[in-house]
Parts: sequence; structure tokens; C-alpha cells
Amino acid sequence: MLNYNRSRNQSRAGMDYLESRRKQHFLGKILMAAFLTAVCIFILKQSPRFSETSAFSQHELGVSHVLVTGGAGYIGSHASLRLLKDSYRVTIVDNLSRGNIGAVKVLQKLFPEPGRLQFIFADLGDTKAVDRIFSQNAFDAVMHFAAVAYVGESTLEPLRYYHNITANTLVILEAMDKHSVKTLIYSSTCATYGEPKKMPITEGTPQVPINPYGKAKKMAEDIILDFTKTTDMAVMILRYFNVIGSDPEGRLGEAPRPELREQGRISGACFDAARGIISGLKVRGTDYPTHDGTCIRDYIDVTDLVDAHVKALDKAQPKKVGIYNVGTGKGRSVKEFVEACKKATGIDIKVDYLERRPGDYAEVFSDPSKIHRELNWSAKHADLEESLKVAWRWQKLHRNGYGSS
Ligand SMILES: NC(=O)c1ccc[n+]([C@@H]2O[C@H](COP(=O)([O-])OP(=O)(O)OC[C@H]3O[C@@H](n4cnc5c(N)ncnc54)[C@H](O)[C@@H]3O)[C@@H](O)[C@H]2O)c1
Ligand SMILES: *[C@@H]1O[C@H](CO)[C@@H](O)[C@H](O)[C@H]1NC(C)=O
Ligand SMILES: *[C@@H]1O[C@H](CO)[C@@H](O)[C@H](O)[C@H]1NC(C)=O
Ligand SMILES: *[C@@H]1O[C@H](CO)[C@@H](O)[C@H](O)[C@H]1NC(C)=O
Repeated sequence: MLNYNRSRNQSRAGMDYLESRRKQHFLGKILMAAFLTAVCIFILKQSPRFSETSAFSQHELGVSHVLVTGGAGYIGSHASLRLLKDSYRVTIVDNLSRGNIGAVKVLQKLFPEPGRLQFIFADLGDTKAVDRIFSQNAFDAVMHFAAVAYVGESTLEPLRYYHNITANTLVILEAMDKHSVKTLIYSSTCATYGEPKKMPITEGTPQVPINPYGKAKKMAEDIILDFTKTTDMAVMILRYFNVIGSDPEGRLGEAPRPELREQGRISGACFDAARGIISGLKVRGTDYPTHDGTCIRDYIDVTDLVDAHVKALDKAQPKKVGIYNVGTGKGRSVKEFVEACKKATGIDIKVDYLERRPGDYAEVFSDPSKIHRELNWSAKHADLEESLKVAWRWQKLHRNGYGSS
């Protein structure tokens, strides 16, 4: 017994000695680690990449950080430019399936300061990637532009539209919900109204879309509306009419992929005809019940459109949904558009008059009085020829879009 006790005491004394040696050793290690950590933080802080990441990953008082999906596209790039000019912090997410990295590069050159603009290459259909983006960044608001947006294509490939419009909007909403991002500005379209009998179109006009593009956007609107009933989100849904024009200072333009030209919109076709890429303009339908027999549309300049987004963002309120038409309120016939195009480009474009295209409606124009009343917005660039002139100037200087200059 005794023997046992002594040996235990002896070994205890030995342990105390060892322990104090170990403690000293441990303290030294901690000091060393603390020193190295301090050095690392110092070095990282000096490097611009670190401060950039941290600026985007933290909320900052007085700075509003906007996620712009589809920011490499036509409207999204113009919106990003305006937001940056107005001192917002911008994160563009785009997978460049339809947009241009060249547009992002222009913006990066204009706003190179750390913490202003970052580009993330990602697919919004990738739920995990989207979730990661939301956990690594502190967004205050989302402007959701990313979509596929050609009526004709939507009738040929409906699944592509329901997937990339409706399903992807759901992915964005789920991420906003999970990460408590409370403000959404959503890109919708007059195509959600279909073919209403009564003109002009107000926000109360029944929505009866007649093609998968309009239906997919209407479904996305419905999902957003139902979701907002259960949360304190601030939502603005903007229903654009036909968007034309480009940055008056010539920094950005509209440059759809060559393979999408066939699907293209009338302004693109006008410029392609002026440049001789296509042999002329094909006007489909001259026997519509309109003053000159051609279809009537409401053309909204992209500069006015992005102004509406900034005003909507500014006025968005928790638990409220604002739905607004964004148009000029004035309808222009295709013949008038062609005349404006000829004058803007100075080229006597050849025009072929053909049979009606199935699915086209005679007349569509907006009543924009609600957005004027509630957001104090109105179209300032309503001169068709002037808008086309601005866009043509960029087109002439960028024959291969953002591919060259
Ligand atoms: N141009 C118009 O006349 C018009 C009219 C009404 C509504 N809109 C809406 O405005 C928005 C922008 O249209 P736009 O004319 O700028 O089109 P766009 O094709 O130029 O831009 C869309 C952008 O979204 C990106 N994108 C698409 N799918 C994506 C995905 N899964 N992941 C990541 N990025 C993706 C594309 O790469 C592209 O850069 C769309 O929602 C469209 O429906 C446009
Ligand atoms: C972009 O996203 C779509 C899915 O919406 C995908 O099919 C396509 O391959 C992606 N493109 C690139 C370049 O990642
Ligand atoms: C959209 O969704 C379809 C799947 O239906 C996919 O094949 C396509 O690549 C997607 N992306 C785009 C930009 O169309
Ligand atoms: C509304 O906008 C105009 C400019 O378009 C501006 O002069 C006016 O002060 C604005 N009104 C309000 C109440 O903000």
C-alpha cells in the first residue's frame, strides 16, 4: 500500500514538472500563432482582393448592395451602369448564355474601385451555386433580369422558357427567403396581358397571356405575389413594353448573339438591314385594323426603363407589392418605326411587306399613369428617331457587338 502511495507521489511530482514545461511550450505556440495570424491579416488587408470580398460580404451603412441577375445582358447592363453611377454597390450574376462579358468589362473599367462592382459567373438554375452566392454576399436588394426573352422561340421551346423564367425565379425567391434579402424588383412584360380588347393597357387589364414566354412570366409573377402575402418582402413588378435604345454616352449597346438574330426584335432587324447583314426589313401584316394597317407597339427607351427601376427600388416598401406598366403610353405603327429607322441610320432600307405572322396582335400600348402618379416616373426619351439614332451610333462603332470596338 505504502509503496504504491510513494511511487504515486513521486510520479505526481514528475508530472507537475512536465506539465509546467508543457505549459510554457504551449504559451509560446499560442504567441507564435497569434503573431503569424496578425501578419497574415495584415498582408491580406493590404491586397485589394481581400478588401473587395469583404466589402461585398458585409452590409455597410449608407451603401445599398444590389444583386443584378442577367447583368451582362442588354437591359441588365444598362441598369448596372445606372446603379453604379448612383453609388450603389453591384454584383452581377450571369452565365453569359445570352449576355456579353464585354459589357461587364466596360462597367469594370468605369468603376474599378474596390467594393463597387463584382461579376460572378453562375447559372441561376444551379440552386447550390445560387445559395452559395447569397451566403457569401450581403445583398440589400435583387433586380432579377436574367431570362430568355423571345416570343417566337418560346413557342418552339416552351420548356426552356418555363425552366429559365419560372423555375429560376423560384430559385431566386428561395435564396432571398433563406438569406433574408427583403427587396425584389422583377422584370415582367406586357406579354403577360396577351391580346386585350381594350387599349390602353392598365395594370388592371386582365392577364391572359397567349404564348409560353408571357405565361412563364405570369406564373413567376403569381409565385412572387403568393410568397409576398406571407412575408415582409418589398416587391416591385415592372411590366415593360418594347425596349429600344442604348446608353446616350455610347458606353453600352444592344448586342444579341448572332444566332439569335432570326428571333430578333424590330430594332435589331432595322440595324442589321442598315448594315447590309440582312437584305431588308420584313414587315409582316399590312391589313391590321390600325391607321396604316401595320401593328402598333409602345417603344420604351432603355434609359427611361432603368430610371423606372431605380425609382421603384427607392420606393419599395416592406409587405407591399407595386405593379407598374413601363411604357410611353403612345403607340407607334411598324411603318412609323421603319421611317424613324431610315432617318436615324440615314440609309434607305429595303422593306418587304409580307403576310401576317401567326400570333401577332394588332395593337398594344400602355397606360403609364399609375407609375407616374406613384413613382413620379415618366418617359423622357419618347422620340423614336432620337432613341434609334443613339443606338445606331453604338452599332456603327461596334460592328461585331462587344467582340470588337
Ligand atoms: N428586351 C425587351 O424588349 C424586354 C421586354 C419586356 C421584358 N423584358 C425582360 O427584361 C429582362 C432582360 O431582357 P434583355 O432584353 O436584357 O435580355 P438579354 O438576353 O439581353 O439578357 C438576359 C441575360 O440573362 C442571362 N441569363 C439567362 N439565363 C440565365 C441563367 N440561367 N443564369 C444566369 N444568367 C442567365 C443571359 O446570359 C443574359 O445576359 C428579361 O427578364 C426579359 O424577359 C425584356
Ligand atoms: C447557362 O445556364 C443554362 C441553364 O439555365 C445552361 O443550360 C447553360 O449550359 C449555361 N451556360 C453556361 C455557359 O454555363
Ligand atoms: C434553359 O432551360 C433548358 C432546359 O429546359 C436548358 O436546356 C437551356 O440551356 C436553359 N438555358 C437557356 C439560356 O436557355
Ligand atoms: C418628380 O420628378 C420631376 C422630374 O421629372 C421633379 O422635377 C419633381 O421634383 C419630382 N416630384 C417629386 C414630388 O419628387
